[in-house]
Amino acid sequence: MIDPASGTKLKVLVFAASLRADSLNRKLAALAARVAEQNGATVEHTSMRDFDVPSFDGDVEHTKGMPAGARELQQRLLESDAFIVSSPEYNGSMPGTFKNLIDWTSRFRPQPFDGKHGLLLSASPSMVGGNRGLWALRMPLEHLGARIYPDMFSLAQAHRALVDGEIADAALRARFEKNIQAFLSLAEAAKNYPCIKRAWVEFLGEPPDSEADRVDPVPA
Ligand SMILES: Cc1cc2nc3c(=O)[nH]c(=O)nc-3n(C[C@H](O)[C@H](O)[C@H](O)COP(=O)(O)O)c2cc1C
Repeated sequence: MIDPASGTKLKVLVFAASLRADSLNRKLAALAARVAEQNGATVEHTSMRDFDVPSFDGDVEHTKGMPAGARELQQRLLESDAFIVSSPEYNGSMPGTFKNLIDWTSRFRPQPFDGKHGLLLSASPSMVGGNRGLWALRMPLEHLGARIYPDMFSLAQAHRALVDGEIADAALRARFEKNIQAFLSLAEAAKNYPCIKRAWVEFLGEPPDSEADRVDPVPA
């Protein structure tokens, strides 16, 4: 639960990385949005459809500029303190559509994922719940400077586990809610106590020169 006495309300962007109307991940994202709101966050619940982009092409970027869908995600990220994404697993990894969106969005300066707190969720009919996809997704997001929360939540057999938009099993539902509460507490602490943020290491292994840097310098 976010401390109501601490600074301004935490703004959290929530969406599912699936375009499907009947998406299990959309349902899990909707549930996450509700839990985050119940825990004191201001939630911007949106859809991947708002972030539609063509296949990344450096020539298109050069001649036509950034697509509207990437601009939309950039704006939503800049307006938020944190994000929660529920992503399907495709062939043991993240969906190509989502990686493509991340690639486009990473081209903005300042780089909009940098410093944002992120929580990763997945839902799948499988017994593993799409968890391998989240490990793959963590990599580009952390590479871009996002603070991806260590605990991730993967809903196995999601077609059965979700009943009328809720996680039917009480113990599992409690675990989901606890995961979101713990994430919000950390994001809220980082928002209101920025000295913690400055203590983090930015980029491991990158030479500190402006050509190689993909993120803006952290203000002193
Ligand atoms: C191309 C493709 C690859 C998939 N690969 C996996 C996979 O590796 N692991 C898994 O758990 N489910 C996999 N699935 C099944 C998805 O988890 C399932 O379709 C799920 O409902 C997709 O998420 P959504 O309901 O949010 O759209 C795959 C589905 C597709 C279309």
